[in-house]
Amino acid sequence: MSSNIEKIMIIPKRYENAKWEDVPTTIQDAFEALRTVGKGIYIHGAIGTGKTHICWALKKHYDKPEVWRYLKFWNVVDLMHEIRSDFDRQYGDKRRPEEDLCDPEERNKVLILDDIGVEKATEFVAETLYRIINFRYNHMLPTIFTSNLPVSELADKIGERSASRIVEMCDIIELTGGDRRIKK
Ligand SMILES: Nc1ncnc2c1ncn2[C@@H]1O[C@H](COP(=O)(O)OP(=O)(O)OP(=O)(O)O)[C@@H](O)[C@H]1O
Ligand SMILES: [Mg+2]
Repeated sequence: MSSNIEKIMIIPKRYENAKWEDVPTTIQDAFEALRTVGKGIYIHGAIGTGKTHICWALKKHYDKPEVWRYLKFWNVVDLMHEIRSDFDRQYGDKRRPEEDLCDPEERNKVLILDDIGVEKATEFVAETLYRIINFRYNHMLPTIFTSNLPVSELADKIGERSASRIVEMCDIIELTGGDRRIKK
């Protein structure tokens, strides 16, 4: 049976039709900048504005190593859950997810962190996020974040040091529009 991590990486059914054309041009342009100069993107917006949909659309469009690079998708809540799990039992000899994310090999990958700042981070979560963000900051690795919060409110949830790095690492883009779930 495949591991939890492998399951998490599979495109969920809800987003399997997400496509490049669904991505707003501001984010398409920001993604081109990410490809050329390595600048990340921080996408924030209200619930249901389409942030996760956009991330899967980007991943599907570019996740072809022969075309470009591997995009690694993590929902932050799932990631923290995996990291908190009983590693010895769950991972055996395999590396833990945050070890993976702080590996120099990651330089060839874009990391998508969906839903950062969803809840007030415990000290453990804040520290783990800081470790991942600081690694990507130091090595200037492109990272896409999504959040319900503008960056000005992020520090309160994940700590000032992580939030400050995100501001320098990313183009900040707000998604407007209503909750697409309600409109359906
Ligand atoms: N451009 C689009 N075209 C078609 N459907 C879309 C588009 N954007 C979003 N949707 C659909 O709208 C619904 C809500 O989108 P999504 O889950 O991406 O919102 P979100 O901003 O990530 O919300 P949350 O903040 O709650 O995580 C999903 O069913 C998604 O597939
Ligand atoms: Mg979402």
